[in-house]
Amino acid sequence: MRTISMKVQNNELYVGSFKLQELATRYKTPLYVYDEKHIRHKLDVLKENFQSNKYECMTVYATKAFLCPYMMQIIHEYGMGLDSVSEGDLYIINRSGFPMEKVVLHGNNKTTSELKYAIKHHVGYIVVDHLEEIEELEKIAQEENTKVSILLRVNPGISAHTHEYIQTSLLSSKFGESIFDKDKIDKIVKKANESQYLTLLGFHSHIGSNIHQPKSFQDATSTLLNFMKDVEERNNCSFEVLNLGGGFGIQYTNEDTEIDLASMVKAITNTIDSFIDKYHLSLKKVMIEPGRSIVGDAGFTLYTVGGTKKTYGGKKYVFVDGGMTDNIRPALYQAKYSVDIANHVDENIQDKEIVDVVGPCCESGDIIVTDYPLTKVKENDVLVTYCTGAYGYSMSSNYNGMVRGAVIFVNNDHVHLTIRREEYEDLCRTMISTPIKRMFDCHSDMLYDLWTNKTKGIDHRFEKYHVPQLSQSVIKGSIFTMYSPNDFDLIEACKIALKEINLKELANFKVVLGLEGLRNLKCVEDIDILYNMGFRHAMVTWNEENKYATGAKSNPERGFTEEGIRLLKRMEQLGMIIDLAHLNEKSFYDALKVVNKNIIYSHGNVKKLCSHVRNVTDDQMKALKKVDGLLGLTLANNFVDKDENNQTLDRFLEHLKYAISIMGVDNVCFGFDFMDYLSDFPNSNLEEVKDATFAYRIIEGMQKIGLSEEDIDKICYQNFYRRYHDKIVMTSED
Ligand code: LLP
Repeated sequence: MRTISMKVQNNELYVGSFKLQELATRYKTPLYVYDEKHIRHKLDVLKENFQSNKYECMTVYATKAFLCPYMMQIIHEYGMGLDSVSEGDLYIINRSGFPMEKVVLHGNNKTTSELKYAIKHHVGYIVVDHLEEIEELEKIAQEENTKVSILLRVNPGISAHTHEYIQTSLLSSKFGESIFDKDKIDKIVKKANESQYLTLLGFHSHIGSNIHQPKSFQDATSTLLNFMKDVEERNNCSFEVLNLGGGFGIQYTNEDTEIDLASMVKAITNTIDSFIDKYHLSLKKVMIEPGRSIVGDAGFTLYTVGGTKKTYGGKKYVFVDGGMTDNIRPALYQAKYSVDIANHVDENIQDKEIVDVVGPCCESGDIIVTDYPLTKVKENDVLVTYCTGAYGYSMSSNYNGMVRGAVIFVNNDHVHLTIRREEYEDLCRTMISTPIKRMFDCHSDMLYDLWTNKTKGIDHRFEKYHVPQLSQSVIKGSIFTMYSPNDFDLIEACKIALKEINLKELANFKVVLGLEGLRNLKCVEDIDILYNMGFRHAMVTWNEENKYATGAKSNPERGFTEEGIRLLKRMEQLGMIIDLAHLNEKSFYDALKVVNKNIIYSHGNVKKLCSHVRNVTDDQMKALKKVDGLLGLTLANNFVDKDENNQTLDRFLEHLKYAISIMGVDNVCFGFDFMDYLSDFPNSNLEEVKDATFAYRIIEGMQKIGLSEEDIDKICYQNFYRRYHDKIVMTSED
């Protein structure tokens, strides 16, 4: 059961020059290992023995057995093709640059999208499963104005000797059209022959998998040749291609009969050779689609032993760190395997115990082998299961939160990582985050970004850029603001941006609409227009001075104007959130003389820790606290520290701790000011929290510095939400 390059030295198993135990440590377990020499040997056997001088022989590797770019590269090197079953398969294959004209597409329920993809990417052969499919294919080929080469999958009704789940050619099987249903077959042939777009090259059949007798293939081949001849005669046409599928078995354990791949494929070519002249067949190409026989016995899996157990009933278990999640075959087909302890291979049967080797899942069926004589094991031994190269990785799952192990190819003294081990983050990759933790971001330039993109002619910016981020983020609400550059039609821009927001795909997301600067507000009264559009928040300036007040980077002696004071009072009357961020200190205090409700400073940090003009002094924090205002700490690099090396999450957390020490936990919140999406400000946020998807790291940091869960929730969410939930004008629950 061992692969070509495996050997035992001092009771230790090696593949090529690598000790299995060392590979297990280096790549972690479960680990799938392929012996590349073994794969190449199998491909050589096929190349040498699947041959004829009467027609072309084409081997098409069945990717369902195992697929990765490195494997495709080897197949390509041998000039062989690939078989695929779905658009997903086609996508992976196409992405690798494999020539699509050497690809065969199967499937008993191909979707329109799959067929379109196949046609657009010029897949070599589409294997049509049934009558209705040919009708749909014809329609799509016509739409795409492309000629398509097809084979018809037929079912020769041959019962191959294998597990019932992998028999495919019973009269009751779901695949293809029966060769006995002559009317239907003729109808399909006629349809294809009449079509301008479809070329029916011939037929395909696959009688099952893991078949051990060459005779089954011999029978299938002669049945199909007879069938082909009949169809040709009935329909007065000829066919060039016969694809006989895969299914050549391998020897999994000593109890299996030995299998000779060469004689299996010769059973096919010999049968055809003897028919072809006698029957005057016009066959030009014969295809086979082996999967298991190429990679099955070339691969094995390594596990680490976690411990052993003897039950009250006397059964002995060996526990390992994988099982049904990396190899479902024992659970699904009662498949039998052979195993060894790789770091202690003991051929002496007397020293063995009868054990079940099982995995960690919450399933009694999580089994690798049962009642198996195994060398005595201890914790951290490495167990090897042989012959797992086919339908192991490809049928693996993340059940019970198990990550898929890495896949390596070993070729003598080279080891090639072909698929990396999954990380826990991979488990969450496709999940729409509905975290228990939530954050409210009191400053986002969302509206400005939406307006900018829309005016550049880019549609669906919100759905395409922001929804994917926010749906993965702990941020569950935000003040979306519109920035106000010079000469800008603020009201018109707001209208454009608002139309771009579509919260439907965000679970439970809340939005307050805000304004970052009012330099373009023509008069105080116009604030009502914005209020009526839903705006409930405004900063009076950005860093500039304008007719209402003075920003942080302008004349420090100038503060609010009379107009500005009128504006503040109107905002207060309307119950708007008055955001003092961006004001210079004089304006900041001027405002607090006039208004004392609904005050926030949405994005700024502690001046004592970083003397940025936009950060706040201790006195400003105290003044904010006095009016029960909020300070929103921000992730802009240069607000965190002047020293680039110190622009870290840890340093940001120091700002948080300091702000809490002055203001208490009830008056601090966050205004992140993410700039990943603003083309003028790349890399302006902390690298560790570079966009909304990483906001969870702040919560982790807050836990690390010892804040209680209650305080974390206050700072992250409740401090803002409790005060201002009535200002929320959009939620995804609407
Ligand atoms: N071609 C077609 C159309 C197939 O359906 C299959 C396998 C093959 C080729 C490749 O068969 P192979 O040479 O690998 O036996 N998960 C099962 C095997 C399912 C096979 C499905 N079709 C197992 O683990 O035994």
